Amino acid sequence: MSKKSLALAAVCTVFAASGLALLVPQRQVVKAGASDEPSYASNGDMQPPADYREWIYLSTGIDMSYSPNAMQMDHSVFDNVFVNPAAYRSFLATGTWPDKTVMVLEVRGAKSKGSINQRGHFQDTATMGIEVHVRDEKRFPGKWAFFEFDSMQKNGTLIPEKAPCYTCHAAHGAVDTTFVQFYPTLLPLAKEKNTLSASYLKEEGSRPTN
Ligand code: HEC
Repeated sequence: MSKKSLALAAVCTVFAASGLALLVPQRQVVKAGASDEPSYASNGDMQPPADYREWIYLSTGIDMSYSPNAMQMDHSVFDNVFVNPAAYRSFLATGTWPDKTVMVLEVRGAKSKGSINQRGHFQDTATMGIEVHVRDEKRFPGKWAFFEFDSMQKNGTLIPEKAPCYTCHAAHGAVDTTFVQFYPTLLPLAKEKNTLSASYLKEEGSRPTN
């Protein structure tokens, strides 16, 4: 086959595949907004911020647990945190989050056997869960809301306001219900701009120094 007909064949394959995709019934609207602002389906679900992996990376926690007697898990997990670029730029200027901030927490299992690795952990290719924290002042009575996603192919469901997510974040988040104390590039900025929450400052003040 000539180069030209090869290219043509490739184009036809793509065309046929996209034609096929049109025939597959679409159960849910999953198209994310063109910008990095949050967008929602008519039933209140959140559309997936599908390109969050191209956003700003804040941190990775490993095996974080929030109670002294939390059960020891038999598998380690990583949680990776990302934020939309517009909100990040605003944080750099002000030390706090603007309206339409979208933060993504992505959980991945830790693996230790693979390739040349002898010790330590690396992240699995599969995600174990994706949660979103979004600030949308007009939409949510408490300004912020949490959504849970199974994958970036499906819309996410709103977590009700009575869930412990809201209480822990409000009581312990260092800046406006978010855990900036664990995001190393943001904490110094929040200190500098005096945007740390009173409850966080109190917790830090009462912490033993050693
Ligand atoms: C007991 C406290 C606690 C509870 C309950 C909790 N979180 Fe968090 N959350 C944290 C901590 C600590 C971090 C920082 C994680 C890190 O540093 O990697 C965090 C980070 C996040 C982030 C990243 C953005 C941010 O706000 O800093 C999201 C999204 C999130 N949690 C969602 C949830 C959801 C959804 C629930 C409920 C199902 C929940 N969390 C319950 C403590 C909590």
